[in-house]
Amino acid sequence: MAPVPHRRFPAAASWPRLAALAVGLLVVGCASDRFPQTTFRPVSDAGEAINRLYGQIFWWAVFVFAVVQSALVVTLIRYRRRPGQGEPKQTHGHTLVEIAWTLAPAVILVVIAVPTVRTIFRLSGTPPAGALQVEVTGHQWWWEFRYAELGVVTANELHVPLGQPVALAITSADVIHSFWAPRLSGKRDAMPGRTTRLVFTADSVGTFLGQCAEFCGDSHANMRLRVMVDSPAVFAAWAARQSAAPPPLDSSDALVLRGEEAFRRIRDPGNHSCVACHTIAGISGGALGPNLSHVGSRTTIAGGTLRSDSAGIARWLHDPPGVKPGSLMPRIELTDDEIAALIAYLHSRK
Ligand code: CUA
Repeated sequence: MAPVPHRRFPAAASWPRLAALAVGLLVVGCASDRFPQTTFRPVSDAGEAINRLYGQIFWWAVFVFAVVQSALVVTLIRYRRRPGQGEPKQTHGHTLVEIAWTLAPAVILVVIAVPTVRTIFRLSGTPPAGALQVEVTGHQWWWEFRYAELGVVTANELHVPLGQPVALAITSADVIHSFWAPRLSGKRDAMPGRTTRLVFTADSVGTFLGQCAEFCGDSHANMRLRVMVDSPAVFAAWAARQSAAPPPLDSSDALVLRGEEAFRRIRDPGNHSCVACHTIAGISGGALGPNLSHVGSRTTIAGGTLRSDSAGIARWLHDPPGVKPGSLMPRIELTDDEIAALIAYLHSRK
């Protein structure tokens, strides 16, 4: 068999295509809203500190790259083999050069280490007085946010006030997860039996996406989160609503009443019921799944993967493991009428 000729470089004809691809990628990279999880547009002091540190290290890396590559190119050209030339002079050991190439990287490493260590301590240090304390618990596969001082428990959507320091105390109920809202802060592991900390102060109102950043099982990719930065007034109103009892059931709404009944009902076989795992204020249930007392005020369900509108909840109730593979919530045989009633009931829990 004839050997297959191989070319080291793409054929000349494909260079324009490669160039077009490169320009395309560059342009896409500049489109700011295409990357909601970019770390380059921070919206908090912590994100800003990380981005600044990244910038410093990047330019040091550029400097080192330029020096090393220039030295390499100069050496290759200047000392290349020429016809008729014998073996070059052999050198063994050069004290000055060796001291120089040991000292120079050491100095650069120190220059990088000082701001790095300072930033690390700043991000995980003691929270400032007046910080909003939030306990964050990673679960397979959703996030629980508990504001002990405010009497608020919610899931997947972390509300924080603009301009007030927020101190997260992060842990896990099962395996190791990692809390990451890239525009607000760096990643922080959530480990069972341990508490890690993150402190940041948000400086822009808006909704910022995040997700679990440590592989934690089948639905790791479905463990999303949102950080909602609210103005202080909006945050206070949100917290007041969340800490109060949900509105009483509208006794004239038969669908909502049927939904509440369906929520409480124990089903056989399998003993499955909503209340076994979920608590709604007024109905003490389990704590295996998210607290649903105010689920009607959240924008998403199912680890932040589905909208909380009727279609989203219906899709979830029909087949939880189909939406979130490995989901602890099993598939329960619910009739379409029960699902419609549950949607109405859950939407009424604001
Ligand atoms: Cu939790 Cu990955």
